[in-house]
Amino acid sequence: MKQFYLKFFVAITFILGSEFTTVAQTQDTVWLSSLDLSKATLGWGTPGTNVSCMGHPITLDGVQYAKGFGTHANSILYIRLNKGSQRFSATIGIDDEEKLSTGTVIFSIYGARQQLWKSSILKSGEPVEKFNINVSGIDTLILLVEGTSDGISYDHADWANAYFLVSGDKPVTVNRKMEEAIVLTPKAPLTPKINGPKIYGVRPGHDFLYKIPVTGQRPMNYTVSDLPEGLKLNLNTGVISGKVSKPGRYEILLTASNKLEKSSRKFTIVVGDEIALTPPLGWNSWNCFACAIDQDKVKSAADAMINSGLADHGWSYINIDDCWMVQPESNDPVLGGKTRDDKGNMNVNKKFKDVKSLTDYVHQKGLKIGIYSGPGPKTCAGYTACYQHEEADAKQFADWGFDYLKYDWCDYERIAKDHSLPELKKPYVVMHQALDKADRDIVYSLCQYGMGDVWKWGAEVGGNCWRTTGDISDDWSSMDGIGFSQAGHEKYAGPGHWNDPDMLVVGMVGWGPELHPTRLSPNEQYTHISLWALLASPLLIGCDMTQLDEFTYGLLTNDEVLDINQDILGKQAGRLVQLENMEIWVKDLEDGSKAVGLFNRGMFSGKIVLKWSDLGITGKQTLRDVWKQEDIGVYQERFETEIPPHGVKLIRILTK
Ligand code: GLA
Repeated sequence: MKQFYLKFFVAITFILGSEFTTVAQTQDTVWLSSLDLSKATLGWGTPGTNVSCMGHPITLDGVQYAKGFGTHANSILYIRLNKGSQRFSATIGIDDEEKLSTGTVIFSIYGARQQLWKSSILKSGEPVEKFNINVSGIDTLILLVEGTSDGISYDHADWANAYFLVSGDKPVTVNRKMEEAIVLTPKAPLTPKINGPKIYGVRPGHDFLYKIPVTGQRPMNYTVSDLPEGLKLNLNTGVISGKVSKPGRYEILLTASNKLEKSSRKFTIVVGDEIALTPPLGWNSWNCFACAIDQDKVKSAADAMINSGLADHGWSYINIDDCWMVQPESNDPVLGGKTRDDKGNMNVNKKFKDVKSLTDYVHQKGLKIGIYSGPGPKTCAGYTACYQHEEADAKQFADWGFDYLKYDWCDYERIAKDHSLPELKKPYVVMHQALDKADRDIVYSLCQYGMGDVWKWGAEVGGNCWRTTGDISDDWSSMDGIGFSQAGHEKYAGPGHWNDPDMLVVGMVGWGPELHPTRLSPNEQYTHISLWALLASPLLIGCDMTQLDEFTYGLLTNDEVLDINQDILGKQAGRLVQLENMEIWVKDLEDGSKAVGLFNRGMFSGKIVLKWSDLGITGKQTLRDVWKQEDIGVYQERFETEIPPHGVKLIRILTK
């Protein structure tokens, strides 16, 4: 890449005793945009070299800049200066491509564990800010752009005209150092332990399917007492199936035994109107395979969920995302063809040979299976969707045996008149009515990225969960921006209807044929899973389950963490404290205890104090480290701890 240098001769005057000595020192100008900006992480879009994050010329308050770094909150860029640079300067603001929007950001610069400079809150359409700061003696500089409490939407931020004055080593962008990946989750005991949700909802007369999640040495035997009429247990596999026609609340006792021990746990089956009484736990194909998904990969995912032992911790849905249908107007021999058959039923593309045999395959394992479509003529990836075929398609999904439908707005944008509430709700009501006519429990997952504050009306249009944000990616900016912007949504979540901040990005992900290990650091992954558990979010694994490493497995199989997510009260955590980069989130649990996440969103480790007075509790309290599954001790009035950068301490304050 072409380097841009400007020679500066700076006269530096030293005072030596009483004499004045003048030394001429050369300084180069190194433009920020001459560095490799692909190392930046962005909450959305692509790092722009001399362009915005959308690829347009950098334009701030009506002025176009030839040079600069176009980014999007939350954004981080690490630059190794090696003490070689003296000054850094730039003109900053929100790009005019979002002039009429409501973006708000704060720029800041860190070095030597200190904040060197911070902007005021910059808003769309407002004047720029300029700075020129001293960076001499700094080893690594960190450029940050953060969204404010309104989230990261429209936060297209530019570091325009940004350059270093350099007299020593040239600046280079670097990847940050990662901490060691330590598995905190203890190994499951060999004795039987029943895990997973404690409650399950099913509609009268509809298929019930539940595999009792149990860890422990095999072979395992299962018994269940007080099963309602219509259900039967497979004694060898622990799968309960059948149909219950009589509405009611059935308290049953699950028992699992192996040669070492016998273990029992209460389980409630609620036969009524509501399903998804706890957030769905499963897998979705998008974050790993995207359009490289095919029937064999779905089968392998189901095999892996069982063989890896994930199902023993309560994971149960195998969800196919986009790209299983025919691509309209395509001549591709695999993807093209007739989009629907003569009866109007949707066709699958040639990567999916026999859908019914696939759903049967998954069900035979005691797992459930999900499908994806949308209200537009096409899906996001350009495949056939449900527009004007909703009833037939809902029936077909049910006949095929699907248990979950993700319904993605995307191409409906062409159909909707505008983004008024009636227009936003319309397609979701239509599909809900269609699903209602189908003779099957299908978890209805709305995906429209939070438009019109969907959390306020998602339940009203029949949604069991609804995406609250745009798509997640496997970097801190994205995960942090999405996760921590969920504050305030907690009042809209509860059994049967959940806020969904998007699928998990731990393990091998990639959105296509090529997979890579998540770019989240180990601490960030603990933050991700802890926060999503506290948020009572649907947990959909987004990685290739056939390639689970020990660390990822530990993240996904901690029963005490999953219990927080699956707690039957169905409360979503809210933000209790926000002090600079430190945040405390609290979730009330059914047994009266509280799950508390102590988060450090900053780049340096720091102390955090949890005060009983903030929690509305008093006296001595026993605290438990949830990840390690061990009690920490008894504390009075407060608990103070050090949290590493981007890390978390997930604790439970136990009831006496
Ligand atoms: C949208 C959704 C993603 C995924 C893709 C599929 O971007 O938000 O989760 O389903 O569509 O094309």
